[in-house]
Amino acid sequence: MAIDRFPSSHILYGGDYNPDQWLDRPDILIKDIELMRQASINTVTLGVFAWAALEPLEGEFHLDWLQKTIAKLYQAGICTILATPSGARPRWLAERYPEVLRVDENRVRCLYGERHNHCYTSPVYRGKVAAINTRLAETFKDDPAVIMWHISNEYGGECHCDLCQDAFRRWVKDKYVDVGALNSAWWTPFWSHQYQSFDQVESPSPRGDTGLLGLNLDWKRFVTEQTADFMRKEIAALRNAGAQQPTTTNFMEDYLGLNYYVLGQDVDFISWDSYPRWHCGSDETAACKTAMQHDLMRSIRRKPFLLMESSPASVNWHEISRLKRPGVVETAALQAVGHGADAAMFFQMRQGRGGYEKFHGAVIDHYGGEDTRVFREVSETGRTLASLASVVQSEVKAPAAIVCDTESRWAMEAAAGPRNAGLPYKDMVLNCYRGLKRAALNVDVLNPQQSLDRYQLVVVPMLYMFQHGIEERLRAFVHSGGTLVLTCWSGIVNETDLCFEGGTPHGLMDVVGVRSTEIDALPDGVTNTMVAGPEVPFGHGRNYVWGNLGDIIELRGAKTLCTYGADFCAGMPALTENTFGAGTAYYVAADAEPVLYEDLFQYIVQFKDISRIVPHVPAGVYVTSRQYANREYVFASSFAQEDVRMELPDHARVLHGDSSGLLHPYQTVVWEQTLHHT
Ligand code: GLA
Ligand code: ZN
Repeated sequence: MAIDRFPSSHILYGGDYNPDQWLDRPDILIKDIELMRQASINTVTLGVFAWAALEPLEGEFHLDWLQKTIAKLYQAGICTILATPSGARPRWLAERYPEVLRVDENRVRCLYGERHNHCYTSPVYRGKVAAINTRLAETFKDDPAVIMWHISNEYGGECHCDLCQDAFRRWVKDKYVDVGALNSAWWTPFWSHQYQSFDQVESPSPRGDTGLLGLNLDWKRFVTEQTADFMRKEIAALRNAGAQQPTTTNFMEDYLGLNYYVLGQDVDFISWDSYPRWHCGSDETAACKTAMQHDLMRSIRRKPFLLMESSPASVNWHEISRLKRPGVVETAALQAVGHGADAAMFFQMRQGRGGYEKFHGAVIDHYGGEDTRVFREVSETGRTLASLASVVQSEVKAPAAIVCDTESRWAMEAAAGPRNAGLPYKDMVLNCYRGLKRAALNVDVLNPQQSLDRYQLVVVPMLYMFQHGIEERLRAFVHSGGTLVLTCWSGIVNETDLCFEGGTPHGLMDVVGVRSTEIDALPDGVTNTMVAGPEVPFGHGRNYVWGNLGDIIELRGAKTLCTYGADFCAGMPALTENTFGAGTAYYVAADAEPVLYEDLFQYIVQFKDISRIVPHVPAGVYVTSRQYANREYVFASSFAQEDVRMELPDHARVLHGDSSGLLHPYQTVVWEQTLHHT
């Protein structure tokens, strides 16, 4: 049974703390606790990589130091999110049981080393993880200081050992039952790759098959499911030992190794680790990407989530480790909270003296004092978050959604298709997202399996693969009055990458009123335009630039809003509108510049009377809101280069920031307003 209630009535604030690196220095813990109190820290994540300190020899458990640490922290008002330590194993485990070591795609077994590199199938590894998890649960199940379980750390990667191959064969057999069905689904007659038996199935390898696209996809699905199964076993060990606290696991930004939507169903709360590249290029873009990840992570379970990690200063694994400019620590935390996070946490509380992360930003650095710029900013942020405790019971409500699918991306990026020099997928999604935010909307970022019922506007950028009956749900959505924006290269293949027959976008040609007949790819730097016709209610004859990809479309009932400006397709439709049932569907045939989406969404919002958070968002500002009963908490953060002013409604009660709405770069204003959207 999923736990829905967030385990805190205030915003969790703190981060990863590694007292296991300081076991010979009791003075450090005392000092750190004092500093944490000063900075309004109320939560730490413990034990993420502490297995060797917890079980230095097989079966010899030393949990006393952890118990003492948790108790001391709790006395100072600091709770613990306790990790299961499976993210990195002790040396003895790999030496005695080599099967726990991962085998790479070339079928070479790794040596002991690094972290996050174990076989998820190995019964020995699963057993050893269950044993340590059981011990942890027995010890801390009734401890009020331990409020949550942090299951492992950033699950990822794959193993190609014999155990995994066997498990994969079983998975494939369960899915297809009949080898003929497998051959059809994977289109094996191509290059004579038919299987005679499921025993012949092998994971993809550069030494074998990399081009059997259905195999690649199912292998990735298997890796996700095997990882989820491993995670479920970790959780089962805790639950069987009587632990009742909610669970979470931390995801990475834009990680494609796993389908997070699947993995996210097995924990109570989602968390993620955010390391934007601030001050390297456009901060507005960094803010936009981060906002979208927050929305994606929240939408997986449509519940509060945790910003589990972020750096209070620089990120030492970035190519260039820039310091966060003054204000960014607080604004990044508030941005997370505004998007629905009930926790804003750091990696790391204290820098270690050695190891790969000794120069990673931390709340407490090697100097060790409170008189540092970073510590001051962290402390200020702590006070701010404490003052905003009332937002914890509120939730983000979005009238608009974007549909994205990791599995479609796997397929699209592996397919040799119109643009192998780089599909503009990520940018197109971001352009759509930015357009929705410029229109002052809250946005959910959905998997194709999720219900569309609650939305007024659904944007589906380049959804190459249609699966889970998405076309049926989009059809019903439009039919019952919703507005759909679909873009090029959508509805091309089914779930095993077999092209749909009979025209694309599959199943939606009558809904959007067009058929895509061909797709053209433009080389880097080459562009064309989309010209808004005089009757178009936006753009007023404007030429929107597009590049990379453009569909040639045939009208099947839709009305043309923009036409292509040049080349052989000049004058042909490039943006269309179609009425279907009670709703409207737009088809954006080419990879257009961001302003096209901005103009289109502004128009749709007005035309369809979709409620906005505020009437106007200044350039460089991101606005998000959370609601509770008839109250709305609005967070406006500026990533502009200059000062800007947010126009606050008359009845606004400012909770944080300048009461006139003035925003310096990297500042946030938070206000409460009566729910009465413009
Ligand atoms: C990841 C990991 C942490 C740490 C940070 C550093 O998110 O989960 O253990 O390595 O990166 O940025
Ligand atoms: Zn394996």
